[in-house]
Amino acid sequence: MPLSPTRSIGVGLISAGWMGRLHSRAYRMIPLVYPELGLRPRLVHAADAAEAGRVAASDVLGYERVSSDYRAVLADPEVDVVSICAPNFLHAEMGVAAARAGKPFWIEKPVGRSAADTAAVRDAAIATGVATSIGFNYRHPPAIARARQLIADGALGSITNIRGRIFGGFHADPQTPRAWRFVRDQAGSGVLGDLMGHLVDLVHFLTGPIGSVTATTGTFITERPGLPGTPDEGRLLPVENDDYANMLIRFDDSAVAAGALGTLDASWIAVGPKAEYAIEVFGTRGSLRWDFERMGELRLAIRRPGEGVGYTRLVADDAFPEYARFQPGSGTPMGYDDLKVIEAKKFLLAATGAAAENSNVHDALASAQVLAAAEESAASGRWVDTPAVPGHTGHAR
Ligand SMILES: NC(=O)c1ccc[n+]([C@@H]2O[C@H](COP(=O)([O-])OP(=O)(O)OC[C@H]3O[C@@H](n4cnc5c(N)ncnc54)[C@H](O)[C@@H]3O)[C@@H](O)[C@H]2O)c1
Repeated sequence: MPLSPTRSIGVGLISAGWMGRLHSRAYRMIPLVYPELGLRPRLVHAADAAEAGRVAASDVLGYERVSSDYRAVLADPEVDVVSICAPNFLHAEMGVAAARAGKPFWIEKPVGRSAADTAAVRDAAIATGVATSIGFNYRHPPAIARARQLIADGALGSITNIRGRIFGGFHADPQTPRAWRFVRDQAGSGVLGDLMGHLVDLVHFLTGPIGSVTATTGTFITERPGLPGTPDEGRLLPVENDDYANMLIRFDDSAVAAGALGTLDASWIAVGPKAEYAIEVFGTRGSLRWDFERMGELRLAIRRPGEGVGYTRLVADDAFPEYARFQPGSGTPMGYDDLKVIEAKKFLLAATGAAAENSNVHDALASAQVLAAAEESAASGRWVDTPAVPGHTGHAR
């Protein structure tokens, strides 16, 4: 494969927590996994409000400079692109600031605590024309790319219904301290904005925009202990957002699944599942099933006249797009971090104007509008329509 001319890209990082460290590792993998692109990310400048984050950025990740104020990253002339990995409540301010600084940005989900926050980031990015990518990593498993191809090729016939659930147990322990994720003005909604946002985007990516929803939400762990080392240590404090959400959906007429119905469920207090992020798509000819806990597998059933129907278990091989980039041997598992490498590649291609395979601020707004409609429906008990969002990359007809 011919190599493109080498191009150095200065990377800025805002927040060096879990996601900030993962974005950084993903940038470092780009020349190894996609050598032919000639992209050479250089980790230039990181900001974190906490000293531990700054130390990790310089001493572990290898950033050349660190700052405590994220504005220093945006003002750095050697920074060409920026990753925004701060807690949710800072995303909108930072996304708008990155757009105004003319820096293409890769931002973690949820882009805002609300659809209004997300729209502000979308508007700023449109106004300055910077490329964007969103941390919707469940779009990238090769099995999901294969599922999208099968749906596009009509292998399942007309889509009739989908079922999605995104169940984690990482907040199931009532003793888990009340971090920012459980405080409404810092996180927005709870599992709805967090995990359900991923699921809604995955549904948009596979089967197209959701047109209307009716939803319920609940909070079952209503109090949690204050964070250790803060004045709240030793006190029980109220949880201010949901830990379970579900919705019925109808697809928009523009969706590849126009006319279809579905159910989506999300919990981050489920005891048992660890990362059971699963989707099933049913059509008139067949159906498929995928679960993140078995990321490399796709189950496919196709009805053929005169034959019995059952699920075939497809295991990752080079028929799954991108898989062979990571593993030369069929069936060898890829990992979550690999999804971020694919996401980094899509971001850098968009930022350099080479290709538009990325999810973008329009996708973030499309997901946020569905979540806003779900919150409205949970309060009113009614179906709520979601406004169309031009520019999204969901699976349209
Ligand atoms: N795509 C995914 O699958 C996924 C997974 C986990 C988290 N996330 C998202 O990533 C974001 C970050 O989550 P995380 O798990 O990395 O959190 P984290 O708590 O591990 O890290 C957050 C970091 O932000 C820093 N920070 C706080 N205030 C700051 C400020 N004013 N300026 C600069 N840095 C500041 C903290 O010091 C910390 O280092 C969240 O929005 C979360 O929803 C996405």
